Amino acid sequence: MERTLIIFKPDAMHRMLVGRILSRFEDKGLRVVGMKLQQSPRAQVEKHYEVHKARPFYNDLVSFMTSAPVIVAVLEGPSAIAVVRNLLGATNGIEAAPGTIRGDFGLDKQFNLVHASDGAETAKAEIELFFKADELVQYKRAGDAWIVSA
Ligand code: CMP
Repeated sequence: MERTLIIFKPDAMHRMLVGRILSRFEDKGLRVVGMKLQQSPRAQVEKHYEVHKARPFYNDLVSFMTSAPVIVAVLEGPSAIAVVRNLLGATNGIEAAPGTIRGDFGLDKQFNLVHASDGAETAKAEIELFFKADELVQYKRAGDAWIVSA
C-alpha cells in the first residue's frame, strides 16, 4: 500500500467540484485516510512548492493557493501515487486526455483543480508537511476485500 497527498485547489473549491472529483478517487478504490479543510498559511505553501521557487509562476502560484480555503487529503492504495497522477492527467487541462480529471474539468495550467504528490519521497514530505501523524487513520472498509485480491 502507498499513500499520496492531494490538495483540492481554490479553483476546485470555488467551482464546487470537490464531491465529483473525490468520487473519481473513491470509484477507483482508493481509501481516504486523512482529510481536512484549511486556509493554508503562506509559509506552508511556500515550502510545499519550494522546488518551483525559481520559476516565473511561483509567486502567483503561492498567492493562488492561499487565496481561498483548500481541502487536503491523503489517499491510500496500491501504487496510489501513480494511480492518482494518471487519474488527474497532464498538468495543463488543455493537454490532459479526455477521461482524466483535468481533461474533463479544466482548461488551464494554474487552475488545474488538484495537486498530487509526484513520487515516493515527495509524498512522504508532503504528508508530513500537511498532516500530524494522529490525523491519519488506519482502517479497512467493508468493500476493500473486493477491490484488492489477497
Ligand atoms: P501542481 O501539481 O500543484 O504542481 C505545481 C503547480 O504549478 C502545478 O500543479 C500548476 O498549478 C502550476 N504550474 C505549472 N506550470 C505552470 C505554468 N507554466 N504557469 C502557471 N502555473 C503553472
